[in-house]
Amino acid sequence: MLELTILNNKERIDPAAATATLPKIKSDPMAGWYNLPLEAPDLSKILSAAKMIQAQSAYLVCIGVGGSYLGHRAIIEALEPNSPTKVLYAGNSLSPHALKAVFDEIGDADFSVNVISKSGTTTEPAIAFRLFKQKLIEKYGESEAPRRIYATTDASTGILHDEAVAASYATFTVPENIGGRYSVLTDVGLLPLAVAGVDIKELLNGAKQMAEHKTPAIRYGALRAALAAGNYDTEILATFEPRLQLFGEWWKQLFGESEGKDGRGIFPASVTYTTDLHSLGQYVQEGRRNIFETVLDFAEPEHPDLTIPSSPDNLDNLNYLAGESLAHINHQALVATIKAHSATIPVVQLKLPRISAGTLGALIYFFELSCAISAKLQGVNPFDQPGVEAYKKEMFKLLGRP
Ligand code: PA5
Repeated sequence: MLELTILNNKERIDPAAATATLPKIKSDPMAGWYNLPLEAPDLSKILSAAKMIQAQSAYLVCIGVGGSYLGHRAIIEALEPNSPTKVLYAGNSLSPHALKAVFDEIGDADFSVNVISKSGTTTEPAIAFRLFKQKLIEKYGESEAPRRIYATTDASTGILHDEAVAASYATFTVPENIGGRYSVLTDVGLLPLAVAGVDIKELLNGAKQMAEHKTPAIRYGALRAALAAGNYDTEILATFEPRLQLFGEWWKQLFGESEGKDGRGIFPASVTYTTDLHSLGQYVQEGRRNIFETVLDFAEPEHPDLTIPSSPDNLDNLNYLAGESLAHINHQALVATIKAHSATIPVVQLKLPRISAGTLGALIYFFELSCAISAKLQGVNPFDQPGVEAYKKEMFKLLGRP
């Protein structure tokens, strides 16, 4: 399903060293994601909750930040699935404008809330949840409001867990042994995805296929660590499809939070070509040579019937493209970009058949595993994020938290 090609690789990669990290990753207390796709989870509770939400609500507001929202939002944006219920997002920033926009979009329509927080104490979702609870109570009353709240959190501890039990919310679980950014294939992602109309069985099946064939992830993890050792400190994830922009955000969070510690790690950036060939493309071609690029290449042409018409006067000189599909031209731009960039920096080409639930599931597992390998080989813990506490301490001081 996924073919990996490395171009202009001057670093010697050592897949043996990467393979040797696998037992350590697998036995890590936070590696619940490692075998998850092989375990055939029971999806009945998620599917029946999704059905109920679709029957009751025009909108599901997903409240969460970081790993609690990026993965499922990225998949929904990429697949644009059909559902009677639209999934909206809140609690991933402190912007009043963003929150008001969600209130305005809901208007008088029926809605439910899925609050997602493993710790239950994260400020952004906690504030948004309080505001949406108030809206639910105003619209549905004290006794009906809790029936429209779905809480995805730790199975046994935490403020949100305790509130969910006390108020009898429907609950879903963030497994104890899976951190936020590795959690998209758990209840965290599966409930909103099922509500949005994504085929979650196909998603998990794609991840399973990748979990059964780990070689490409091992090679990619090994390559990243070798490039990091060779002073390549920046990686760019490139796609040629605007609806994958948020997938780039998920990828940046996974790698940035997993690797960036102890003064180490590769800085992850993402671009959408061809748009960004007219901005960052210049830097990639001729700027500092400390970067490498990973390009997602989906082979199957989309909308092949969208072709360039012939023009009798050819005033724009585009008749040489007449009859070609836009998909073909976009793919030729991808081939040309890889050729131009790999003349000067290492480029990893990841070929997949098409953008689908299955290939996204495969990519998610591929990146989770390669990220864990690459971080371990660079000597950092892929599963913690101690650095995010620093700004919180300062903010809580300013806000006067007791
Ligand atoms: O990857 C992580 O662990 C983080 O990005 C968390 O997902 C994020 O901070 C949200 O945490 P929580 O789910 O506890 O609210």
